[in-house]
Amino acid sequence: MTRCRTLIQIQMALLAAVLTAGTACARADSASLALKGNDHGTPACAACHGAQGEGRAVSGFPRLAGLNAGYLQTQLAAFAGGQRVSAMMTPIARTMTQTEWQEMARYYAWLPNLAGASKSTSTLAKTAPPDTDSAGAKLALQGRWSHALPACVQCHGSMGVGVGSVFPALAGQSAVYLQNQLQAWQQGTRAAGPLGLMKVIADKLSAEDIQYVAAYFAALPVSLHPKAEP
Ligand code: HEC
Ligand code: HEC
Repeated sequence: MTRCRTLIQIQMALLAAVLTAGTACARADSASLALKGNDHGTPACAACHGAQGEGRAVSGFPRLAGLNAGYLQTQLAAFAGGQRVSAMMTPIARTMTQTEWQEMARYYAWLPNLAGASKSTSTLAKTAPPDTDSAGAKLALQGRWSHALPACVQCHGSMGVGVGSVFPALAGQSAVYLQNQLQAWQQGTRAAGPLGLMKVIADKLSAEDIQYVAAYFAALPVSLHPKAEP
């Protein structure tokens, strides 16, 4: 009986060791693809999205760190499938396998938890919260009911932190990138997305609305929720 229990304990310990090693290996492979690219034509994501997935705001390269894994994976599939058109991302997503989409999505969702990464991603957060009386804030927090335009935060979560795999975080995202997306829906180069929700909303926004609301969300602090292990 005792011997049996010891054996079980040894087995459990071995299993735990194998699982830990497996996770560590998966993470090392993901880090390698993100930082160096692979041998079948995928460039390093870090070249544009930054070493810690923080993005490059002025160039409109979005922050990926801390976004929901399910959302990121859906976007890679949409680039590859042509539902979402991007001169840069469409060819890159097509060089990747479906497993690599999944690995990269999990890696970036989890990245802010890396020691050191959270410090540098949080530097994206601006110190002063944006003015809640500004035109951008009003649209984000109240919407415009005369045009049946709901408040952005109703779907994107309070402070734009994102909700699940459907409603991406907007807080701390590049303003240029946010504007590009709203214009992409207006121009039909990004598919309407779940339930066609964002195309309807984008079509109700003027050029000024887009500029103000993008500036508002870009200035909100990046949320750093603890994420599941990849
Ligand atoms: C040459 C620059 C470049 C490289 C390299 C690159 N990206 Fe991108 N990525 C972009 C740009 C630009 C966009 C925004 C496209 C748009 O405006 O729709 C983007 C958008 C994305 C998005 C959508 C984000 C969102 O919030 O919807 C994902 C996911 C993504 N990239 C993942 C990756 C991954 C994973 C890699 C590496 C395998 C990678 N990218 C490499 C430039 C790049
Ligand atoms: C009724 C729900 C709903 C409301 C209200 C809403 N959104 Fe969205 N939004 C979505 C969904 C769903 C997506 C994901 C679309 C996809 O997967 O392609 C999205 C995506 C986005 C994106 C793309 C983010 C990225 O990482 O690529 C931007 C930008 C955006 N919304 C801005 C806004 C703004 C600004 C408002 C307010 C004027 C707003 N949204 C209101 C549902 C909503």
